[in-house]
Amino acid sequence: MLKQLIFLVFWSIGFAVQAGDKPELPPFHHIVHVKPSKAIHVPEKFTLGDEGELVCATCHGLKDIDKTPIDKVDTKSADFLVGGGYRRITELCYQCHDEKATQRDNIHLMADEEGFLKKKTCTYCHEEMPDREKDLSIAELKLRIPMEKICYGCHLKDPHFNSVEHQVKPAQEDMLKRIEKNSKELNILIPLSDKQEVICVSCHSPHQNGVIDPSKPAGKQVYIDDLEKGIEYKEHPWSAVFAADKQVRLDEFNEKHDMNVQFSYQRITQEALLRLPAKDGQLCLVCHDFKD
Ligand code: HEC
Ligand code: HEC
Ligand code: HEC
Ligand code: HEC
Ligand code: HEC
Ligand code: HEC
Repeated sequence: MLKQLIFLVFWSIGFAVQAGDKPELPPFHHIVHVKPSKAIHVPEKFTLGDEGELVCATCHGLKDIDKTPIDKVDTKSADFLVGGGYRRITELCYQCHDEKATQRDNIHLMADEEGFLKKKTCTYCHEEMPDREKDLSIAELKLRIPMEKICYGCHLKDPHFNSVEHQVKPAQEDMLKRIEKNSKELNILIPLSDKQEVICVSCHSPHQNGVIDPSKPAGKQVYIDDLEKGIEYKEHPWSAVFAADKQVRLDEFNEKHDMNVQFSYQRITQEALLRLPAKDGQLCLVCHDFKD
């Protein structure tokens, strides 16, 4: 639950809903107006309300944040979150929440200190550790649940912007052909579901780099030195084209749902568990042809 919220909170950076003129909390925001239970340790720098409850100022240093429309809130300010400048949002969470009790194993960290594979991590998804020397069919991989659902237990179906829209069968036959052609030419694996839908593992590799021989299609993925640190972002607009594309869709969405959703673009500086880099569009171009 904590982790799910973290994913949501993380991806909701700059993604705020505002109905009408009344400022509201962003979707999936942390609960407020509750008194900490014994399980929570609130350090002194987080000031509680008069009744000892969580108030806006407990976590936010910005004055009158509750009276500011969400799209006007300066999330880049050092005072936005008390204690400021967190590398990962979890650093904030663990100030009050017990890290050990709430942390899940990052099963994508598959090698131990000596570089040997931790069998236990394999069996989260495979009934037994697959033989990496053999060419195995999907059935021989003995996945515990179908590939299109294998990430859901731990991650949400919508872990980030655009992921839900992607979990569909390509509308155009062209795209399927392109995926096949590019997979061959680039020697990569882009698995689709039985129904030819795009799924999490179409874009993401479940394995830490090196687990699968990098010369095999399934082993070709973005290299990351420190998977424990994970993805890193830098506040920076994405390409104007991409932004403009999203803006059109956002405008349509807002019009249809009578909302004012805004999205701020952040540049990814370190990618993880992706089959190809996305930050320069390589991954996107396996499926998309943005020329027309
Ligand atoms: C327990 C801590 C906590 C409390 C209490 C809290 N917030 Fe937040 N708030 C957060 C976190 C964490 C984020 C997400 C920060 C991020 O993802 O960068 C956030 C995000 C926001 C944002 C998002 C801005 C954006 O553009 O996405 C607004 C607005 C906000 N909070 C307003 C409030 C208001 C108003 C209150 C009081 C009613 C409040 N918060 C109480 C932790 C808290
Ligand atoms: C200032 C202290 C504080 C910080 C910082 C904080 N929390 Fe909490 N959190 C609380 C309190 C207090 C509760 C209420 C439950 C309790 O007291 O046991 C709570 C409850 C929760 C719950 C349960 C919500 C529910 O509806 O029952 C989740 C999930 C959670 N926090 C996630 C997070 C995440 C994720 C972060 C970091 C983005 C975070 N918290 C940061 C104090 C904090
Ligand atoms: C989070 C789920 C998950 C975990 C954990 C996992 N796998 Fe996999 N594995 C998959 C999926 C899904 C596929 C099929 C898609 C692919 O190859 O990327 C697969 C495919 C494979 C393949 C076939 C690759 C090929 O060449 O086609 C091998 C070998 C393999 N896994 C070995 C392992 C080993 C060894 C571990 C533990 C160190 C492990 N897996 C952990 C989900 C997982
Ligand atoms: C594995 C194939 C695949 C990859 C990789 C991929 N897409 Fe898509 N994309 C799709 C499919 C399928 C759709 C659904 C619409 C369709 O069938 O044309 C879609 C839809 C979209 C849409 C329209 C969404 C909407 O709501 O209408 C955008 C924008 C988009 N993709 C951008 C990207 C970007 C940017 C990347 C790279 C980060 C990317 N895609 C990577 C297959 C892919
Ligand atoms: C048993 C639980 C579990 C399963 C199953 C699982 N994950 Fe994860 N995943 C995690 C944890 C834990 C992290 C570490 C980040 C965190 O703690 O939030 C993580 C991190 C990630 C990251 C981000 C890397 C980073 O640290 O920034 C991606 C991408 C990801 N997972 C994709 C997937 C995909 C795709 C699947 C399905 C093939 C999958 N995961 C299955 C638990 C899981
Ligand atoms: C169309 C391609 C695509 C699909 C489909 C997709 N993702 Fe992603 N995902 C990305 C990209 C691009 C990123 C950001 C860069 C990175 O992973 O390094 C990302 C990031 C993530 C992260 C890291 C979030 C963070 O900021 O730490 C997680 C976790 C994740 N994806 C899980 C999933 C899961 C689970 C699914 C399926 C429900 C999924 N993704 C479907 C492309 C995709």
